[in-house]
Amino acid sequence: MKLIAYNVRDDEIPFIKQWGAENEIEVGYNTQILDSKTIEKAKGFDGISCLQTIPYSAELFNKFSKLDIKSLSLRNVGIDNIDLEAAKQNGIEITNVPAYSPESIAEFAVFMAMFLLRKAGYMYQQLHVDHQFHFSSDFMGRLIEDQTVGVIGTGRIGRHVIQLFQGLGAKVIAFDKFPMKNPFFEYVDNEEDIFERADIVTLHMPATADNDHLVNKEIFKMMKDDALLINTARGSIVDTADLIWALENKEIAGAGIDTIENESADLQDSRSTKLVTDKNVLKLANMPNVIVTPHSAFHTATAVKNMVDISLNNLKNMVDGGTPDDLVD
Ligand code: COI
Repeated sequence: MKLIAYNVRDDEIPFIKQWGAENEIEVGYNTQILDSKTIEKAKGFDGISCLQTIPYSAELFNKFSKLDIKSLSLRNVGIDNIDLEAAKQNGIEITNVPAYSPESIAEFAVFMAMFLLRKAGYMYQQLHVDHQFHFSSDFMGRLIEDQTVGVIGTGRIGRHVIQLFQGLGAKVIAFDKFPMKNPFFEYVDNEEDIFERADIVTLHMPATADNDHLVNKEIFKMMKDDALLINTARGSIVDTADLIWALENKEIAGAGIDTIENESADLQDSRSTKLVTDKNVLKLANMPNVIVTPHSAFHTATAVKNMVDISLNNLKNMVDGGTPDDLVD
């Protein structure tokens, strides 16, 4: 068996090599996004592992069949960027890694909230942009224990976020279309309750056709003027132009944005030296009440090892003719 991994960062390589040695399986790797052209590099391999948030298209899946490859194993959880119908038509099995480290993303969401509550962006701007270093009234923060945190999505990540915020003394309210039984927190009946009542709204649901631009002008108007929005879920859930409008018009007080609409191939290229040109990213980056990060909430050593190991185990299993638990429907 020969496997190949696409869009590999330097920090993944030791884990890939270790897995290959332990399993006595050749694992090739490259630094490219997987698309209908780069798939040619997989010629002679039996299965592909990949991590990207740009699309896996029908054109790509047609090429899988031509190379006689039937297995694609994601190293991440999100499947919103996959043409699942085209994959099915070409008889391609796909796995994801549903839980590589929910704690990594949850902790990042809490970090973003703390960064915003304690006005770290204002302190950073004063020193690093204005080259001054002194007290400022702009730096007065808010305690987490005085906040109501609204969590939308109570899967593994959302539940860990709830535990962390509860541990810090916040009041937590949550919404999920499929609420858990016996929750250790308070559910509200609809998303509007969260947007109206929460001081911090944090999103933890997958991207679906239903929640595209769920957070838009109307919702920002509904939110408290001093509310913070945290998005470590998917960019498509928040209308970025409306977010900028809301921040400029003080409809909300700040935002932590780890996922933004229309993520580019460049964002996912860990070796890129390109300067950022996305006007929305640049606008947000200049706001001291905003923190923007390049979809990096997942990125801890624990998560990376789990992503590589679980993805390659799934791929080996599929190529061997097995049925991994992580098969995507
Ligand atoms: C995911 O696991 O789906 C993420 O959002 C992480 C990212 C590396 C794609």
